[in-house]
Amino acid sequence: MKVLLVGGGAREHALACHLLQDASTVELVAAPGNAGIAAIARCQPVAATDIDSLLALAEKERPDYTLVGPEGALALGIVDRFRTAGIPIFGPTRAAARIEASKVFAKDVLRDAGVATGRAERHVDAAAAKAAVRTLGAPVVIKASGLAAGKGVIVAATISDADTAIDAMLIESRFGDAGQEILVEEFLEGEEVSVFGITDGTRVVSLIPAQDHKRLLDGDRGPNTGGMGAYAPCRDQAFADGIADTIMAPTLAAMRDRGCPFTGLLYAGLILTADGPKVIEFNCRFGDPETEAILPVTGPSLAPLLHAVAVGDRLPEHVPSAPPRGFAVTTVVAAAGYPEHPRTGDPIVLPPSEPALHVFHAGTAFSSTGQLVTAGGRVLAITAVAPSLAEARRRSTDYARRVEFDGKQYRTDIAARALGGDARAS
Ligand code: AMP
Ligand code: GLY
Repeated sequence: MKVLLVGGGAREHALACHLLQDASTVELVAAPGNAGIAAIARCQPVAATDIDSLLALAEKERPDYTLVGPEGALALGIVDRFRTAGIPIFGPTRAAARIEASKVFAKDVLRDAGVATGRAERHVDAAAAKAAVRTLGAPVVIKASGLAAGKGVIVAATISDADTAIDAMLIESRFGDAGQEILVEEFLEGEEVSVFGITDGTRVVSLIPAQDHKRLLDGDRGPNTGGMGAYAPCRDQAFADGIADTIMAPTLAAMRDRGCPFTGLLYAGLILTADGPKVIEFNCRFGDPETEAILPVTGPSLAPLLHAVAVGDRLPEHVPSAPPRGFAVTTVVAAAGYPEHPRTGDPIVLPPSEPALHVFHAGTAFSSTGQLVTAGGRVLAITAVAPSLAEARRRSTDYARRVEFDGKQYRTDIAARALGGDARAS
């Protein structure tokens, strides 16, 4: 089986390791990959957003299927292009990827599907948006509708913060086109959970639930980031199956009714409110860093399911779920200046490898002298797997502490709340 993997983050490194569990029969080509992926796959220097060159690469390599990591390629229509060329690919079409690429579209789908979500209003005019903020009251959430690399959501504690966010998006255009249309959304209170479902458009196989940690600093302080860590499982399989039945199935039906069936990986971002789970976002691809926590504790390989969806087959009616292989805690190690202005080129020294510990590379590269250096905002994702969440957390944090590069940033409290709130690794 030959797979073309599009992307070059820790998510793609985790996907590559997962696909290579049965290494003797899998050949992996990555575009563009990174320094970690290069150790296990053949990397080609093609950007994950360069659809023409990716198509040319696929036509040359003729993989059995292509697996797309980042949302950018999906929103640009990579799936439509590959399907037209007869090349199997896992992911949603451009029209279906709007479930992530347009938060306004996602709200419309949620409404049609009758799925619980925060009350929200769409606005393109700052004065009207500010009036809506005053009706909802603070705290309130201001969201750029378009893709903004995880930075387009501002949870405003006060009306004045909300006004500032509205001005930044609608008047100052600080989020570009992504912020020309916004949602003013009710603030929801509760634990966050991410549930992923692999879907053929109708049937869903749900993966192990995980919790992301989006803020930069311990104690959920500081700016939102792409994600600073995750742990899994954070709920049991029955919970994930319930989300597949009550949230994903009606959402997929609404997508089919709109003439844009969704196939690939549907990511439901949820807040578990006192009134039950409510959707705060959908993503149209594997989450990052949740994937780095989920896959190392996922029992049977997901490869047959990914392949089936990519070639257009139906998923089996019943996919037996195996219990998680322990607990996984992922600590992201980020570059100096992340998320605003990450610095690159800092030499990295990694501690020796350890059993049941995965060092997934994100923004890494080799310098001209062969030195491993930082090359992006999130640099590494360190996943420890252990029989207990406490031990997984201790080992993940401890390894992250021993990674050396100038200005590194990491959280020490991933999964701490689940363990009783102690913010220090014990
Ligand atoms: P998103 O980019 O949509 O995942 O949002 C980023 C983060 O903002 C989420 O992980 C939540 O922590 C927070 N958030 C988004 N929507 C809401 C909401 N309606 N209420 C409370 N927090 C939210
Ligand atoms: N973990 C958040 C995301 O993948 O968007």
